[in-house]
Amino acid sequence: MPAFTVRSLDKIYPGAPPVRALSNISFSVEEGEFIVLLGPSGCGKSTLLEILAGLQQPSGGSVLFRDRPIIGPGGELGVVFQDASLYPWRTVAANVGLGLELRGVDKVQARRLVEEQLSLVGLDGFGGKFPHQISGGMKQRAGIARALVNDPDVILMDEPFGAVDYVTRNKLQEDLIRIWQQRRKTIVFVTHDVGEAVFLADRIVLLSPRPGRIAEIVTLDLLRPRRRGDIELLQREARIYEALRALEPTATVA
Ligand SMILES: Nc1ncnc2c1ncn2[C@@H]1O[C@H](COP(=O)(O)OP(=O)(O)OP(=O)(O)O)[C@@H](O)[C@H]1O
Ligand SMILES: [Mg+2]
Repeated sequence: MPAFTVRSLDKIYPGAPPVRALSNISFSVEEGEFIVLLGPSGCGKSTLLEILAGLQQPSGGSVLFRDRPIIGPGGELGVVFQDASLYPWRTVAANVGLGLELRGVDKVQARRLVEEQLSLVGLDGFGGKFPHQISGGMKQRAGIARALVNDPDVILMDEPFGAVDYVTRNKLQEDLIRIWQQRRKTIVFVTHDVGEAVFLADRIVLLSPRPGRIAEIVTLDLLRPRRRGDIELLQREARIYEALRALEPTATVA
């Protein structure tokens, strides 16, 4: 049974005029798979991820999580949002520990788990700070820790490394692959960065500009751990970049 089964999905945001964000999307995500949703800004990646998370309703088609309708995040489904979405009145540690608190996990154990996660994402010693006291990249890392601390089997991530510097981003990508492999997670990861997509993915779902349609599903049967600068990786990156460019509306020069 796949983790997610998406069939003929459409999403139209109501309004005047209505915005068609996704059109006829069908794919599945196998358990244990690392899927990347790749496409240009505004093509509907966040919309698709939010539908998988149960936070948005599709306008047409169907989405199943383990053969059942999606009920929302929590428990076996963790979500990392594009803007981190931390509560400003809670410390970093209290934000990260929110899910544990809601589940009534013992306080001492919760504190240990939160500290472990903060350390994993490189936020050692920042648990007592409030969101406004840390940088954008650190907020994103806190958002990742908040999802991981609940140890969900499925993690949905929306451009989680968008606001971190190049070196940190590479390190977080490597850490994520390690967690995914060690703990056998299923991950759906949104990015518009082709290099990031080929480094991470088992399969890339390539979306066209809005309304997002599936242009291609690319299987990356490359050995892991992948090495940056590996010639085959760079060749795949170049090919996907060309495919992405070919999807853009032709530029007009005034
Ligand atoms: N709540 C909303 N109401 C109306 N339109 C929306 C809403 N959310 C998104 N849209 C529109 O739907 C389209 C897809 O948006 P979405 O945020 O899913 O794209 P994206 O691929 O995640 O973009 P980015 O890479 O910039 O994050 C856009 O045209 C956007 O303006
Ligand atoms: Mg988005």
